[in-house]
Amino acid sequence: MPIAGKFITFEGGEGAGKSTQLTRLADRLRVSGEAVLSLREPGGTPFGEKMRDVLKHPGSAIRPAAEALLFAACRAQLVADVIAPALAAGQIVLCDRFIDSTVAYQSGGRGLDRALIESANRLACGPVNPDLTVLLDLDPSSGLGRASVRDHGQPDRFEVLGADFHRKVRGLYHKLAKEEPARFFVIDATRPPEAIEEEIWHEITRRFR
Ligand code: TMP
Repeated sequence: MPIAGKFITFEGGEGAGKSTQLTRLADRLRVSGEAVLSLREPGGTPFGEKMRDVLKHPGSAIRPAAEALLFAACRAQLVADVIAPALAAGQIVLCDRFIDSTVAYQSGGRGLDRALIESANRLACGPVNPDLTVLLDLDPSSGLGRASVRDHGQPDRFEVLGADFHRKVRGLYHKLAKEEPARFFVIDATRPPEAIEEEIWHEITRRFR
């Protein structure tokens, strides 16, 4: 069963169901005997979890460039302390958001220069790159509604930005998936969670087993 040492990331807009699908995949891999590490960004280290609160809090006044660098800083810490050692030890690492979130949100959404964002990503990650990226694709008008129900009507600093911002994020995700079709697996996130779980499982076994 040679999935060991694979790095799989989940991407998508607000309310697309990434966390649910990551948990379902992790459970399924564990049942089949794999060693799995589940992570989220920003987060996964004490520094990253502190920054997560700052970055998501609607009261934080953070400039776009500062925001981009904070996401990159969290990633640098997570890659060095957690992801690289886990992959080297043969674990399967699943991460809720990674490099593509910064390209989609800070370049697509905020309008920062994409090449600069990609440089920050390279600085943060070194040679670590996802083997597979599952993109859960959803129209922001549905996604923001779902996220609002989940968060009991208390939107975070990104959810408050509205549909126009999130449409730009989605556009950039589509662009990334087109540019790297071998890495991305795009799924229609309006489908039932059970059907999405099956599609992801099928793709994982097709690629790695
Ligand atoms: P989430 O984990 O609930 O999706 O919250 C993370 C938020 O942070 C989400 O709105 C997307 C945003 N984000 C960025 O803007 N850039 C990034 O690089 C990452 C990792 C997240």
